[in-house]
Amino acid sequence: MAKTLPICIVIFAAVSHSCCGTMLATKEYGWRPIFVDNEIVINGPFGDDFIWQFEAQENHILAFSILDGNIKDAQQFLSIHDGAGIDSPYVQLENGDIMQLSRKGLPETLYTTTSKATVRFSKFPKSHLKLKIQKAANCSYNIKPETQCGRMVDEVSCYCAVFTNKNQSDHTMSCVDNGMKLVSFESKEEEELVHRTWSTQIPFWTSLTDTRRDGSWIWESTMTLLSNQNYTNWFPGRPLVQDSNQLNCMLYGGSTYSSFWGDVNCSTLANAICEAQP
Ligand SMILES: *[C@@H]1O[C@H](CO)[C@@H](O)[C@H](O)[C@H]1NC(C)=O
Ligand SMILES: *[C@@H]1O[C@H](CO)[C@@H](O)[C@H](O)[C@H]1NC(C)=O
Ligand SMILES: *[C@@H]1O[C@H](CO)[C@@H](O)[C@H](O)[C@H]1NC(C)=O
Ligand SMILES: *[C@@H]1O[C@H](CO)[C@@H](O)[C@H](O)[C@H]1NC(C)=O
Repeated sequence: MAKTLPICIVIFAAVSHSCCGTMLATKEYGWRPIFVDNEIVINGPFGDDFIWQFEAQENHILAFSILDGNIKDAQQFLSIHDGAGIDSPYVQLENGDIMQLSRKGLPETLYTTTSKATVRFSKFPKSHLKLKIQKAANCSYNIKPETQCGRMVDEVSCYCAVFTNKNQSDHTMSCVDNGMKLVSFESKEEEELVHRTWSTQIPFWTSLTDTRRDGSWIWESTMTLLSNQNYTNWFPGRPLVQDSNQLNCMLYGGSTYSSFWGDVNCSTLANAICEAQP
């Protein structure tokens, strides 16, 4: 057993899917934790004295959901702990303010506050259990009173509206100060989920700019160039195309552009939305 375990973990990480349930069983601490690069789904059968440790990249947290049941039932058989220590506390539901703003209908998910977790089985599960472990963005950054955060799009990313008026570059830096980036709308769905949460009555800064070269719009947060094939939602007649104009930043919403994208002067003062991807 002791010899096969590390090999199994290597296979496990490579396949990233159900693998070798019983072979991972151990009562001992000190095994190398399973690294969660993106997501792992573990299928039973599970033994009644399994202890598994998981770890994500630093500055990330871990999200646990049960794919074929609910967490309450699963907790009869297992406990999920926040951290790697023997006395790590139980993983808690996320802060109520975040849950309130998060998308309804997402799978019920428990989050750690650190990049490590321990799962302990106490009883042999009666039914088949499928446990999903994902690397997630921290959604509990030191949130100031003028900021609202939630998991609008999926269980692992986080979006925050920042209700202070600043220019585009100042907001870019405030997002970075909180481990986030100014928002990029890479799909219609993402834009709509954010829009539904905060409406578009108040204009928000996004990371789309053509500061570097007029007419070449780049989502600065991801450094991706907007091409003809990409999703766009410009206000009719925008962006203006005359040479070397000064309207180099995309402001979303507000009374002028309603729920469309407008090209405006980057010095304009507005609110912003930051996002963090795992
Ligand atoms: C997540 O954010 C909270 C609140 O700022 C902080 O206490 C915690 O250390 C953060 N976790 C990680 C893994 O960065
Ligand atoms: C834009 O479209 C290209 C080609 O379909 C795609 O590779 C790229 O990821 C898209 N970029 C964005 C920002 O959606
Ligand atoms: C953009 O705003 C700045 C600061 O308010 C101002 O100096 C500049 O003239 C503006 N540019 C245009 C084209 O309006
Ligand atoms: C943004 O505002 C800061 C002051 O808060 C100022 O120093 C900076 O020059 C402004 N940048 C632009 C592009 O207006």
